Amino acid sequence: MRPLVAGNWKMNGLRSGEAELRAVIAGAVTGCDLMVCPPATLLVSFAAIAKGSSVVIGAQDCHGERDGAHTGDISAEMIADAGAGAVIVGHSERRADHQESDADVKAKASAAARAGLIAILCIGETKEERQAGATIARIGRQLDGSLPDRLDDARLVIAYEPVWAIGTGLTPTTKDVAEVHAFIRERLVALDPKAGASMRILYGGSVKPANAKELMAVMNVNGALVGGASLKAADFLGIAAAYS
Ligand code: 13P
Repeated sequence: MRPLVAGNWKMNGLRSGEAELRAVIAGAVTGCDLMVCPPATLLVSFAAIAKGSSVVIGAQDCHGERDGAHTGDISAEMIADAGAGAVIVGHSERRADHQESDADVKAKASAAARAGLIAILCIGETKEERQAGATIARIGRQLDGSLPDRLDDARLVIAYEPVWAIGTGLTPTTKDVAEVHAFIRERLVALDPKAGASMRILYGGSVKPANAKELMAVMNVNGALVGGASLKAADFLGIAAAYS
């Protein structure tokens, strides 16, 4: 399967950030798919800039409904209408800051499928869960509760992001990453042998150019979801170079 390196800009980026996107497009490597997920305010302009290039533009969240009285929210259909091709759902910062449940995340992932978007569905344990030896149980519950009913290997991507590794400079050992990714793969295959075997499972959490090669070489790691290091085109491309 073709790896995917996706950049989650989080609440960063003004119109001036267009220059970084242009640099990503200019430097795109051929060994993996690239995606940039800017804040919603930049979706339309970024999608216009990326049109015709190999870089897909994604949003960072969507509502489960198509439209309606939900002040401040945006639907998957609106994201597609803006020219974007993907959306991140269930990021741990949304789960923590906006009390998103697994059921909410499932509705969002299903909405993405309805609108024809790629969904990157995020799961991951907290530091306390890791220390208590409850990582696998937590990942299993999140998969059970938040996967959409139908697995689509072309349009559904899982991102394993240990909460304690996000923005901290800490990463799990490659052995720990391999264990969690193998477990996710096994669960996906049990649900749908064909789609589950070919869905991409990304690792996220303090991925940098310096550690990308080692992390991307782990079995069942099919790319990266990058936060801080995606804000600078040179660093983002340095991570993607793990696949060059
Ligand atoms: P960092 O790469 O900044 O640790 O963030 C990871 C992340 O949350 C991507 O969604």
